[in-house]
Amino acid sequence: MKPHRFAFVGTGGRAISFIEPLVTRYREHNTLVAFCDLSPARMAYYNAKLTGAWSPPAVPAYPADRFDDLLRDTKPDTVFVCSKDSTHHHYIIRALRAGCDVITEKPLTIDAEKCRAILDAQRITGGRVRVAFNYRWGPFRTKVKELIADGTIGRVHSVNLEYLLDTHHGADYFRRWHAHADESGTLLVHKSTHHFDLVNWWLDAIPAQVFAYGDLVFYGRKNAEARGDGHLAAYPRYTGEPRAKDDPFRIDLDESEAFRGLYRAGEADSGYLRDRNVFRDDIDIYDQMSLNVRYRTGEVLNYSLIAYSPREGMRVTFNGDRGRIEYSEFIGTHMNRAVSPGDFAVEAKPGAEAEGESIRVFPHFQPGYDVPLPPATGAHGGADDILTHSFFSPDAPNTDPWGRFAGHEQGAASILVGIAARDSIRGQWPVTLTDLVLFAPGKTRLSELT
Ligand SMILES: NC(=O)c1ccc[n+]([C@@H]2O[C@H](COP(=O)([O-])OP(=O)(O)OC[C@H]3O[C@@H](n4cnc5c(N)ncnc54)[C@H](O)[C@@H]3O)[C@@H](O)[C@H]2O)c1
Repeated sequence: MKPHRFAFVGTGGRAISFIEPLVTRYREHNTLVAFCDLSPARMAYYNAKLTGAWSPPAVPAYPADRFDDLLRDTKPDTVFVCSKDSTHHHYIIRALRAGCDVITEKPLTIDAEKCRAILDAQRITGGRVRVAFNYRWGPFRTKVKELIADGTIGRVHSVNLEYLLDTHHGADYFRRWHAHADESGTLLVHKSTHHFDLVNWWLDAIPAQVFAYGDLVFYGRKNAEARGDGHLAAYPRYTGEPRAKDDPFRIDLDESEAFRGLYRAGEADSGYLRDRNVFRDDIDIYDQMSLNVRYRTGEVLNYSLIAYSPREGMRVTFNGDRGRIEYSEFIGTHMNRAVSPGDFAVEAKPGAEAEGESIRVFPHFQPGYDVPLPPATGAHGGADDILTHSFFSPDAPNTDPWGRFAGHEQGAASILVGIAARDSIRGQWPVTLTDLVLFAPGKTRLSELT
């Protein structure tokens, strides 16, 4: 069998999770053919890994404005998009037009116009688009899916999902491009796309309408000054700043080989500073978001995301007409440190101690019970390994009993909740998703969507 040819767009911190397994564990059946990024230094970092510890040879490195040359010269079968969120559509559409399939990191894209353009390009070209929703592949989240699909609590009518990002991992979004709505779509798209996708998938439902509130109450200069923390806003970035020595929000880009090679070395050629002060002026995303979603099939989701919590994790409760499921995962905190999947580690931070996962079922008129949990180790609760296998292994089945493969339509069903929430916050009215993008007309179940 001819090896499958992959090109990678976006050689930042996340890409290592896929590039390393591709060129090591899965090299027999796959070939890496090229990189594309804004930063030659970041691509050189990955090429040095290839010629060093991984698997030579180095591959051609194309600057962002030469992506079409990459497609023509290296003829990838699949383009793997791992770049900044606001650039995904650009690469997805051009890769599809060149006859490639696409795997894209979440979110599919960040606004309605770009979403329509992706759906149009897919319809015209017929190429396959997969969204790397790794949350679905976490074994304990799959267990929740199994319980709901088996009717353990009857038909589910409502869900409460509270997600907490802490002042370690959560703060990291406020240091870099994620803090700008036009680059990340806000956390309602960048981060919540995982959570909206989980609920869509758990319920096998398609979201219809959203009403939301969102505020910036913790990060940003004004908030720091208002609570007497103005001294934490006194410098533009953390690395090399003596005044930041005792700052709990500090990160040091000189601390690791990966940070130095990817981010310090790439500052000059891309202008990207990865350690900007979380209490600076130009942050225009929310750190506290609450919303309600109504699904086409009538269910309701109550959702909240806080990005300044002392703890990291989520609680989800499902109310069914035969009982209730309470699911929680407090599996500690970690920040993307651009390390190999094998070196992933939960970080020791006060207040973020891991308490583990639990699933409790409370049937009507019967005692509640704990559901035994499947084992899960590794990055993102074991999800990354299983997802990577599904991308790169020739033995990976094409169908999945739990419907974990997500295509462009399922990717759209998730981001549109966050995009609608942004509009709702601005306008203070409920927003209907199909007013933004006319997707999946006549369909009622997520599993009917690609
Ligand atoms: N599923 C997950 O668990 C998970 C975790 C982290 C990141 N991600 C996703 O992975 C992607 C990358 O995130 P990251 O943490 O690696 O960020 P990063 O900032 O470390 O890397 C982003 C890369 O995109 C490049 N880039 C920016 N603009 C570009 C352009 N116009 N063309 C080509 N490249 C461009 C940057 O130079 C950088 O190398 C994002 O879409 C993010 O949402 C997913």
